[in-house]
Amino acid sequence: MNTPVDVNIVNAEIESSGLKNLGKATIREIVGLVNRIQAKSGVNFIRMEMGVPGLRPPQIGIDAEIEALKSGVASDYPMVDGVKALKEESSKFIKNFMGKDISPESCIPTVGSMQGAYATFLICANLDKAKDTALFIDPGFPVQKQQFKVMGHKYESFDVYNYRGEKLREKVESYLKNGNINSIIYSNPNNPSWICFTEDELKIIGELANKYDVIVIEDLAYFAMDFRRDLFHPGKPPYQASVTNYTDNYILLISGSKAFSYAGQRIAVTAISDKLFHRQYSNLLERFGRPEFGATFVLRIIYALSSGAGHSTQYGMAAMLKAANEGRFNFIEEVKEYGERAKIMKEMFLNAGFKIVYDKDINQEIADGFYFTISYPGLTGGELVKELLYHGISAISLDNTGSTRIEGLRACVSQITADKMPVLFERLSAFKQNHQ
Ligand SMILES: Cc1ncc(COP(=O)(O)O)c(C=O)c1O
Repeated sequence: MNTPVDVNIVNAEIESSGLKNLGKATIREIVGLVNRIQAKSGVNFIRMEMGVPGLRPPQIGIDAEIEALKSGVASDYPMVDGVKALKEESSKFIKNFMGKDISPESCIPTVGSMQGAYATFLICANLDKAKDTALFIDPGFPVQKQQFKVMGHKYESFDVYNYRGEKLREKVESYLKNGNINSIIYSNPNNPSWICFTEDELKIIGELANKYDVIVIEDLAYFAMDFRRDLFHPGKPPYQASVTNYTDNYILLISGSKAFSYAGQRIAVTAISDKLFHRQYSNLLERFGRPEFGATFVLRIIYALSSGAGHSTQYGMAAMLKAANEGRFNFIEEVKEYGERAKIMKEMFLNAGFKIVYDKDINQEIADGFYFTISYPGLTGGELVKELLYHGISAISLDNTGSTRIEGLRACVSQITADKMPVLFERLSAFKQNHQ
């Protein structure tokens, strides 16, 4: 087999990495492996394994951070519940782009959505002793499961592939009926499949959350990035689709990383429904010494984790949200490029004999966005990772994402700039040739 990368180098590096099954490797393990193969072989890979923004950070954010630093904020602790400007702009942003009222008080800056999720999972597991388990609607972002492992908390999950539309109700209810579920977690648009739940599906989730008194944790890491509809109309619909239209039991995780290309600064906002923020739980009082949800989240959990988010970074994020709220900064236009890349890349993979694993949003084609999922007939996820490594292409298996469609991979488009497309084409042609 004539491959773009020496098969012996790839095999030797896999062997020395100690990774028995590439299908089970974490994102960071694949990153390390590919770095070593690149160094040994001298071949630059088409890197699709990690979801890092491939665009420049907005100048508005950078300028605001510099200004904040010059004014001396670096020596001051920020308030644990966040700087006023970011809380206020977050509240306005949610009103402008989701049509929802959440007061600034209930918008809490966190060190990335990673921290927002960690704190959220922690509090939700401590509301009611009988409800000790979370429910993931998978596939999902693998590190969140790792967060559960670190905390020693329980979760259940199912792959949504076969439960779209009305079928979702019975499936979700089959878990909630048991009485042990405290929260439902999903990302929308979804990492890794780019599924976007329909309003009907979100309504089902919201209705069930009300019926069984569980909290919906809506991870909006890819806020407004369903590029099939233009969602940049501050103050006017259409809005980012959300469960908030159907329940008050919700927590939103809004990240600066992808929609604002601000991953390095580790900033996000956790927005808690006002009703939930002020709700009291006797178990929180017993466990943390405060009964109120919001106060426990901020003054017990975030305080203990990091005592707030970076000071200047909060001003950077606030400036970007303010500009978006005022219609001066179309953040969606900035990231649309990802959708364009996905369209071209999917076409190339399909022409080389691959299939799209999560191919539909019920009866619509899946949107083009930050990720897409691929499989190749006859190869498992682990085998496909390896075969692609021989061809200078890296991606992670769906195995770690809670997908039961283990034959597939997640491809991230963010690092594949226009100049890399011809290289991808060449390598996929070689792959096709080698698999005839
Ligand atoms: C679904 C999802 N949630 C959360 C995150 C993490 O976001 P942050 O960088 O804000 O911690 C990511 C990043 O890839 C993600 O895909």
